[in-house]
Amino acid sequence: MMGANECKGRRSVIVGVCLAGVALLSQCGQAPPAPTPRLAPLQPNRSSALAEAMREVDSELVELRDAFLQKQADWASEQLTVHDFNALMPTDSSMLVEGFQALAIAYQKRVLDFNAAPSADAYSAVVTGCVSCHQKACPGPLERIAKRELP
Ligand code: HEC
Repeated sequence: MMGANECKGRRSVIVGVCLAGVALLSQCGQAPPAPTPRLAPLQPNRSSALAEAMREVDSELVELRDAFLQKQADWASEQLTVHDFNALMPTDSSMLVEGFQALAIAYQKRVLDFNAAPSADAYSAVVTGCVSCHQKACPGPLERIAKRELP
């Protein structure tokens, strides 16, 4: 009885060693599997859809502000691109903080209000919408956003 047990035990050790060897071999023989991206793939030269939309709207603010301050253009013909930030993938899920959805909806409403009746006040309300979300979700660009405020 004991002998049989010993045998079995030894055999399973051998099987174990073999399996470990196979596992080792296959890991060495193949390229390691690429990590499956959970959100936007992290690539050095590509931004997330959300980051791209942010940059786009940021440059729109720069243009609007310059037009108003330097060229004394009136707001009447100005429009901002309407983005649904809730539909765009961020670089990292940690950016989708609690309240993000509501802040994105509130921001979008400010943009729609601006487009319906462009004015300095409506512009400032949009910038406030940027700031409200960035205070919670992504404080890095706050300094840059502050430069979009009207004097
Ligand atoms: C509802 C939340 C929210 C609102 C509103 C918002 N942002 Fe952002 N912003 C983010 C998040 C989150 C990121 C990070 C995105 C990423 O890296 O995927 C970001 C990123 C940015 C960036 C950096 C982009 C880059 O190059 O990586 C800038 C600049 C920016 N936002 C400016 C603005 C401006 C200007 C506005 C208003 C017109 C605005 N944001 C409105 C949440 C918001």
